[in-house]
Amino acid sequence: MKAPDFDFVVLGSGIAGLTFALQAAAHGRVLVLCKAHLSETNTAYAQGGIAAVLDPTDSFEQHVQDTLEAGAGVCDEAAVRYMVQEAPAAIRWLQGMAVGFDKVKSGNMALGLEGGHSHHRIVHVKDHTGRSVQQALEAAVRRHPIISVQEHQMGIELLTDTSNSGTFCYGVQVLDLHTQEVRSIRAQAVVLATGGSGQVYQYTTNPGIATGDGLAMATRAGAIIQNMEFFQFHPTALYQPNGEVFLISEALRGAGAELVLPDGSRFVHHYHPLGSLAPRDVVARAVLTEMQHHQSPCLYLDVRHLPAGKVRENFPSIYHKCATIGIDVEKQLIPVVPAAHYQCGGVKTDMQGRTSIDRLYAVGEVACTGVHGANRLASNSLLEGVVFAQSAARQVVGLAPMPMQAIPDMTLEKNYVGTLWLGMRAEIERNRSKLQTLLWEQAGIVRSAKGLLSCQARIDALQRKMKGIAYMTGTQREVQELQNLLTVAELITKAALARRESVGGHSVTETLPEGRPSQDNAFLVDAPETGIRALF
Ligand code: FAD
Ligand code: SIN
Repeated sequence: MKAPDFDFVVLGSGIAGLTFALQAAAHGRVLVLCKAHLSETNTAYAQGGIAAVLDPTDSFEQHVQDTLEAGAGVCDEAAVRYMVQEAPAAIRWLQGMAVGFDKVKSGNMALGLEGGHSHHRIVHVKDHTGRSVQQALEAAVRRHPIISVQEHQMGIELLTDTSNSGTFCYGVQVLDLHTQEVRSIRAQAVVLATGGSGQVYQYTTNPGIATGDGLAMATRAGAIIQNMEFFQFHPTALYQPNGEVFLISEALRGAGAELVLPDGSRFVHHYHPLGSLAPRDVVARAVLTEMQHHQSPCLYLDVRHLPAGKVRENFPSIYHKCATIGIDVEKQLIPVVPAAHYQCGGVKTDMQGRTSIDRLYAVGEVACTGVHGANRLASNSLLEGVVFAQSAARQVVGLAPMPMQAIPDMTLEKNYVGTLWLGMRAEIERNRSKLQTLLWEQAGIVRSAKGLLSCQARIDALQRKMKGIAYMTGTQREVQELQNLLTVAELITKAALARRESVGGHSVTETLPEGRPSQDNAFLVDAPETGIRALF
């Protein structure tokens, strides 16, 4: 028996993990772990901003209705209402942390517009909101005396055990990416804030860290996972023939940019009355459909009609990125394609971040609080990260200390680190690319049952192959990440097969024959052999 090393261990240093750490540190010792540098997060790449009702002519009810409509009837309305009402306070808290949101001349907050919003309500810092939020929270965490930070530490397995009252979590196993050592850290509560899993797709706006590690660890530990069929595709990533992805913010469309066909004509109003500012799932499908119809590798964003200097002034990152590839946005069209962007599903939680495993919490993109339903409303993600990390922090401080005798002695199962020789590294790389292409083609913006079934069979084969590789290499980052991505892929594919009707981000052209499970009677898959326990 050994006392916990920390009160709270947080895996992840994005907006959700750092918000939780800063709030919980008033009540106990916090350790923040992240698998890269502290600042390498999805959060740091966020462009558009954060949604909040701050204009007197706007209302909570309108923000709620916009969120529910984008979510296509799948949202948890109570969670949406809670998030929307907490939004203004969350923005004030971020300002208190020294995030300098843009203001208009009167001193009021500058409020942008994005798809699916009926009102201007997006607070932002130019087009690099995420970087500004990340820097402010990081600075606060680094100077906090009660918060420890350990970078390049990869969580690989949750430590759980079962008592009379069910499964509980008492820590995490971590791979030190500098020394390759595996160690166990024990805590009163573990908080997953590991972000999303966009790396499961060939084209994604997400950085390399987004490999669904927290989701896969929670799955292996038996936590309930929900809504994985709803992966959100952003309609406007910059098209670059080398395949590199850079987001062109929806806020640019909010400022007047229009999506156009190769001949320069506008088209999205044929799909939705809100045209280029329709909810994201509608626009992504419209872009894909027109690309296929015109046999074009991309469509275009037109900002040439906007006042001179407006894009350079308000969207400096986008302006400069386009300039580096030879596009003068004031004179030329911006080529765009859809890319995987956001995991709407995740580890099921309540409004306090509690998962189905006692003392295991999930906040941010890894969690499924129910606020996004089948399709997330723009700029509701950073908001969700702050609001639910704060409510989780309020909840954990009331946790009774874990009885010492409840904590098992350490057993390190994953403590073998072998060698990853060059050929093996290349083989893992190839399998990762195969998986990404497979998901993009068969479980992407539009799916069919036939494609999903063949996808599942190929995932199974890759899983078997990776088991063999893992046996030889032991615990290695590359191996671990690919195995986690395979779990994410399996969750997406199974959930997509189970959901027969097209809804929100899940668009299906041909479904399973009758007799196979449907969403009408959601069911719980409990498959201990695969470690999957999910609501479909
Ligand atoms: P992240 O910010 O992704 O942080 C994840 C953390 O987990 C990282 O520190 C990582 O190192 C760590 N981690 C992962 N795995 C492990 C592991 N195994 N062990 C230890 N640590 C681990 N949303 C909006 O609301 N508004 C926007 O304008 C917006 N723009 C976006 C633009 C882009 C290009 C992208 C990619 C996303 C955007 N989003 C936006 C979505 C939003 O940024 C993310 O959903 C949000 O930042 C997720 O925050 P998070 O704290 O949950 O995770
Ligand atoms: C964007 O700026 O287009 C992204 C906004 C979001 O993902 O909410």
